Amino acid sequence: MVKSKVLFACRECGASYPKWQGQCATCGEWNCLEEVKVSQKQKKSGVAAGVGFSGSGTEITRLAEVKLESSQRILTHIHEFDRVLGGGLVPGSVVLIGGEPGAGKSTLLIQMASEIARDLGCVYVSGEESIQQIASRAIRLGISDREVQLATLTDVGHVISLVEHTKPTVVVVDSIQVMHSDEIESVPGSVSQVRECASELTQLAKQTGTIFVLIGHVTKEGNLAGPKVLEHMIDCFVMLEAPIGSRFRMLRGIKNRFGAVNELGVFAMTDRGLREVANPSAIFLERTTEPTAGSVVTVTWEGTRPLLVEIQALVDDVQGGYPRRVSVGLDTQRLAMHLAIMHRHCGISLADQDVFANVTGGIKVAETAVDLATLIAVYSSFRNRALPHDLVVFGELGLTGEIRPVPNGQERLREVQKHGFTRAIVPLANKAKKPFAGVEVSYVPTLSSALDVLNEILTG
Ligand code: TYD
Ligand code: MG
Repeated sequence: MVKSKVLFACRECGASYPKWQGQCATCGEWNCLEEVKVSQKQKKSGVAAGVGFSGSGTEITRLAEVKLESSQRILTHIHEFDRVLGGGLVPGSVVLIGGEPGAGKSTLLIQMASEIARDLGCVYVSGEESIQQIASRAIRLGISDREVQLATLTDVGHVISLVEHTKPTVVVVDSIQVMHSDEIESVPGSVSQVRECASELTQLAKQTGTIFVLIGHVTKEGNLAGPKVLEHMIDCFVMLEAPIGSRFRMLRGIKNRFGAVNELGVFAMTDRGLREVANPSAIFLERTTEPTAGSVVTVTWEGTRPLLVEIQALVDDVQGGYPRRVSVGLDTQRLAMHLAIMHRHCGISLADQDVFANVTGGIKVAETAVDLATLIAVYSSFRNRALPHDLVVFGELGLTGEIRPVPNGQERLREVQKHGFTRAIVPLANKAKKPFAGVEVSYVPTLSSALDVLNEILTG
């Protein structure tokens, strides 16, 4: 047995201290320190610090002289998943997929495993379900005849010897929270166990070139259960989001050492597992047949492609007390800011009105290109005038009442054209050299000019 030393690590941020204390001095959280046993051998190699790759070379190399081994990416053959990963799995990398219970993590990964197993070795290690349960799911998914190797293990040491013996290309671990290592005494799922198991698997990945896809549970608050250090160790972190009551699933890249993040993959949960949604714009635009007040379509940019979404707003007399500003899928602070801009620069006051705004389909939009559409939906509801169904709006709002340009304006307009919309209100600075056939585009410099165009459309 290697001599071990006791440390206290924070469950939230992973900071470690030599003595127990009530509050973590790094993140300020209370009652979050857990005892961690660190073997001296590991401490030297840098694993205790939560670093996956424990660099031991002492030589200095010039960047220009580094020879890259050609590392061909391994495709999962699930296009949406490959795109979120930045073009497939990188050999020797560790991917973590997080999500709430029931989101479909196990479903997605058994589907992925079955695709990879068509021509490469793939092991699915489950510590949560029995072989029978996995097999019965595979039968339902229609993939039970594939070459996937299954194992039910919770001891990370067994996983390691399995990998050393069978030498698979890809290993799925369902889930990292149920794994435990003999090196550490605490219970599975505790901060020290999760971090130790992940670091042992990360080291194995770097040494052997095996790809590990780990499933991670997410707490009620949406954080990864276990230490934050887990996110630092792994190479890619993707989240499978399941909007409440929706059959659609969004796969979002949070961290990617080999590609862009914020790429969005869209799936639908069906009775035969997760199906890719090739044209997500179409599904988020299931609208009523008659135009209604308070609804407008905008184009958001998700990773490398445009997505058409509907923004809805409801403006109603204040029901006692302060006027409320509530938004779902949008930034509430920005909504309040937009209302102030509309008041100051266009003289429209909603001080005695409650304002609610929502993005339909359970989508969350973080970019500022939805500003103008949000405000126009609010304006439409306030005036109780329905906007035509063939109108699309995008643009960022500045505090001085100007409409600021958005990235990828041309591609957004092309998406508008592709889906048969015939009118668009967009920032002047996004003006295209060539007109878009079939789309009447109004390029507006300010909010008041945008509302002028809108009033023309409404009266015209
Ligand atoms: P699962 O992959 O077990 O979720 P996780 O591993 O993220 O906890 O699947 C979750 C849900 O998906 C479950 O409630 C049932 C549903 N489901 C289907 O609707 N169709 C299917 O074909 C499968 C396999 C699951
Ligand atoms: Mg599961």
